[in-house]
Amino acid sequence: MADAPTIERPRNALQQAFYREVLAGLSARPRAIPARWFYDRRGSELFEAITDLPEYYPTRTETALLAAHSREIGTVIGPGRAVIEFGSGSSTKTPHVLGAIDPAAYVPIDISGDFLRHSAEQLSERFPELPILPVEADFLNPVELPAGVRGLPKLGFFPGSTIGNMSAPAAVDFLRTIHAELGEGAMLLIGMDRVKSTEILIPAYNDAAGVTAAFNLNLLHRINRELDGDIPVAAFRHNAIWNDDAARIEMHLEAIVDVRFTVAGHSFAMAAGETIHTENSHKYGPRGARLMLAAGNWTPIREWIDPDGLFALLLAEARAPETAP
Ligand code: TRP
Repeated sequence: MADAPTIERPRNALQQAFYREVLAGLSARPRAIPARWFYDRRGSELFEAITDLPEYYPTRTETALLAAHSREIGTVIGPGRAVIEFGSGSSTKTPHVLGAIDPAAYVPIDISGDFLRHSAEQLSERFPELPILPVEADFLNPVELPAGVRGLPKLGFFPGSTIGNMSAPAAVDFLRTIHAELGEGAMLLIGMDRVKSTEILIPAYNDAAGVTAAFNLNLLHRINRELDGDIPVAAFRHNAIWNDDAARIEMHLEAIVDVRFTVAGHSFAMAAGETIHTENSHKYGPRGARLMLAAGNWTPIREWIDPDGLFALLLAEARAPETAP
């Protein structure tokens, strides 16, 4: 499907990629569409609403960990670093880190320019002395850091268990890439969600108010809107399942009945019960989390966990773990 004819005048490269990846994903078996296409304006708003849901524990738990351990975090990391945040979004957790460590600069990296500018303005009110140097980019690609932070020691900040949304090879590639980007002497503060009971996990990805369902289904509305589709959205339902072998929550869009639809002039048919896989959220045990960091050339030096063992915050140093013998 990669060399399919282009939809009438796609607006830009991003739109072109959306077109290509949706058609390829709907044609593949199993069907799957990359999760990054969730985040149009409406999707970003719905995601912000998810982080406030009673069932969605990760945001609340991670923020509480940052607040509860800010003194120790400040002592271990020390002052004078440039904080580089990957996928900063609304930067709601950032003040806890900036307030704890007395940094030399802050570099938020996000694909959404709107979000970036807005949160940079808000942060500069709170930290008027701090140089804030936003970079509008997809943090999954290697990013050139602003000249202003070149000589400074770095702290990478990667909260939200976003690493869990990557496959294991992609996560290792990412950790190695940012190791190279941040340089020797860098540190990484990273949030990783824990394996736990499905009684807690499933509702976190399938809440009673239906916000996560709306977030998942918004992808179909977006396809209809932007790619001239006629997908009968009401014929699909949101499904979150725990895949124990892969230690991950999977989100799917499941056809409730047999459906036929077109997207950008291409026809598709799905039988009742067939799904489109839209997201993975991997969960980690304590050893798995450390092994993942080590595989990415980061040596874990501290970890903080909430009393219920829901979520872990890990601090690592940019050096490959000891290789002897
Ligand atoms: N990294 C978070 C998580 O996996 C954020 C996230 C991605 C998310 N997709 C989601 C949260 C869908 C809720 C629903 O939990």
